[in-house]
Amino acid sequence: MRSEKLVYLDNAATGFPKPPSVLKEVARCLSDYCGNAGRSSHALALRAAEKIYECREEAAALLGCPEPENVIFTMNTTYAINMLVKGFLKRGDHVLISDMEHNSVLRPIYRLADEGLIEYDVFSTETLRHGGTRGAFLEGIAAQIRPNTRLLFCTHASNICSLTLPLREIGALCRRHGIFFAVDAAQSAGHTEIHMTELGIDALCAPSHKGLCGIQGAGILALAEKQGLATLVEGGNGMYSLEGGMPWELPERFEAGTLPTPALAGLCEGIRYVRKVGCDTIATHERSLFCELRDRLEDLHGVRILLPEHEGAILLFTVEGKSSERVAGELAAHSICVRGGYHCAALGHRALGTTEDGAVRVSFGHGNTRSDLDALWRALKKI
Ligand code: ALA
Repeated sequence: MRSEKLVYLDNAATGFPKPPSVLKEVARCLSDYCGNAGRSSHALALRAAEKIYECREEAAALLGCPEPENVIFTMNTTYAINMLVKGFLKRGDHVLISDMEHNSVLRPIYRLADEGLIEYDVFSTETLRHGGTRGAFLEGIAAQIRPNTRLLFCTHASNICSLTLPLREIGALCRRHGIFFAVDAAQSAGHTEIHMTELGIDALCAPSHKGLCGIQGAGILALAEKQGLATLVEGGNGMYSLEGGMPWELPERFEAGTLPTPALAGLCEGIRYVRKVGCDTIATHERSLFCELRDRLEDLHGVRILLPEHEGAILLFTVEGKSSERVAGELAAHSICVRGGYHCAALGHRALGTTEDGAVRVSFGHGNTRSDLDALWRALKKI
């Protein structure tokens, strides 16, 4: 498939196209230095280990994580979230999650709750969505805190609409109540500034292949402190091979099995690209595309934009009389890539009132331009 023919507006699913420096480094890794890091002392393994450490340094610097060693590489964001949820929670704990969570957060929590191990409550983002104050929103969360609330897990930016959650204020609330604060940054890392320490975030999960401009096959679990999570997966990593247990050191404690070196080589260059351009510049660019598309769609009969006043990297809309899957399919026939349906986010669609037919999601990336909006606009008018 030739990318120049496509108009790609599905960056919330996976970022495309990748910066040339990322593609080049993935290829270079595969041809020049794809040894197994940590296993051997020959040049290929050492170079792979060096590149992986560079990637940890880049990720820590971008995300405001105190130490590169606190950046743990996983297969993807879902895996990172599962490691955190299942490694942190204990029998009898209570968890708070938002009504904008993706299944990557919902399903691990549901499973532990179904097994009777934990309890959870969902806090509403309605106040935020409808122009209420952050204070009122936070009061809503505070009212649901119990003596056994140990974890608050929420998304930073929704994967279905342009809502972002006020992490600094939520972080401060968690601090006051001694609650561990974990953030799903699947849609915000690389799209907007995040500084874990400044925002009071204890753990942050992010993908390689979306805003960080890397490729699929890697994710990040960044921890503010080197503290006691139980391991979800055990295995070899070349450290203390004669011992039966996993090492205590980070990141090795949580990195069992061979790491995806080519994906991490790409991620390293992806993060470098994001840091060079600047998250603020990327966010401003995506917001300006959002505003232009919103203003144009508002004039199209039958189109309803969800949360038009919340400017961000995602624009969600419905078309009267057509299911979202049908609209997305018809746009695909015009070479426009968007995503319809429910986007693995049942609670969010329920909150927005779009469970009947789902909604069409347009999601911007650093590479989109106004001509992409023109193409979408022309196609939408035709269908
Ligand atoms: N979580 C990704 C999305 O929202 C796959 O499309």
